[in-house]
Amino acid sequence: MQIHLQKNPTAANRLRIVKIQEVKRESPTVKTFTFHDKLCGKAEPGQFVMIWIPGVDEIPMSLSNISSKGLASISAADVGEATKALNQRKRGDVLGVRGPYGNGFTLTGGNALIVGGGTGLVPLMPLTERIVGIATKITFLLGAKTKDELLFLGRIEQMLSKVNAEIIATTEDGSYGLKGIVTGQAEKMLGKKRFDMVYTCGPEQMMHRMFVLAERYDTPLQASLERIMRCAIGLCGSCVIGRFRVCKDGPVLTSEQLRMVKEEFGKFKLDFQGKKTPIS
Ligand SMILES: Cc1cc2nc3c(=O)[nH]c(=O)nc-3n(C[C@H](O)[C@H](O)[C@H](O)COP(=O)(O)OP(=O)(O)OC[C@H]3O[C@@H](n4cnc5c(N)ncnc54)[C@H](O)[C@@H]3O)c2cc1C
Ligand code: FES
Repeated sequence: MQIHLQKNPTAANRLRIVKIQEVKRESPTVKTFTFHDKLCGKAEPGQFVMIWIPGVDEIPMSLSNISSKGLASISAADVGEATKALNQRKRGDVLGVRGPYGNGFTLTGGNALIVGGGTGLVPLMPLTERIVGIATKITFLLGAKTKDELLFLGRIEQMLSKVNAEIIATTEDGSYGLKGIVTGQAEKMLGKKRFDMVYTCGPEQMMHRMFVLAERYDTPLQASLERIMRCAIGLCGSCVIGRFRVCKDGPVLTSEQLRMVKEEFGKFKLDFQGKKTPIS
């Protein structure tokens, strides 16, 4: 399907106006918006869309749900001007959609370790849906600061209820699951068992730690990166990391690609002015 989109990029680049079919609150700061869009319904897990909030801005969002019936969802945290405006939108309101864009996750069989933190869990939802039936075992580690901010736990439990799987939730304040950070559990897991692939998305420091751990245990990894995005089609350069443009070469980069940008990954990104700034 991804190949089809690349053959006909103009279809994906065309801005479509969609009506919000459903709004669901996931946490105090995150809401899921569902809409009909044929192209999004054909997206690969890990691909993203550009969402235009009329009169405000256009921002990149991963797809949190991809349905073959043409329904798709985004799940947005309220962090600034555009996401605040988005979070105020109601059922029946309209949004603009371009995409899906970029390279998503490459699905592999075997023993899979999925590690997500905060809104990084968003692209891991369609990934998990697809990987059930391919992987022989799935270990899902999810983390958040507090219980209230832990996203999609019920959905993950449901998706993995009928397969060989283990789910471990961590919260930094210990209000749910194990107290601590998710990478601490990942380190324990990688030390105990052999995994065939690590899939990760979350704050960049978290993904960087996962990259270091995966390298230590000689395990391939795929991480979904975030950068400032404007064009989403590889032209403007605002999403550059080393030799890669995250919108086109990513957002999912492999350990092999991350090794090529290790001076920047987890350390620097371009700000809105295109200046290299440290990642806090
Ligand atoms: C591929 C990709 C997928 C994403 N998926 C999700 C998702 O599923 N859910 C979610 O809540 N967020 C996601 N984001 C982040 C989301 O795009 C930003 O939070 C949003 O653009 C912030 O806009 P704002 O006007 O609300 O905030 P601002 O006040 O503009 O900025 C708040 C923060 O967001 C960052 N940011 C602002 N604009 C962008 C931009 N165009 N691209 C990347 N970062 C930006 C800023 O550096 C700042 O740290 C994704 C980003 C990328 C690149
Ligand atoms: S967003 Fe313009 S090159 Fe990536």
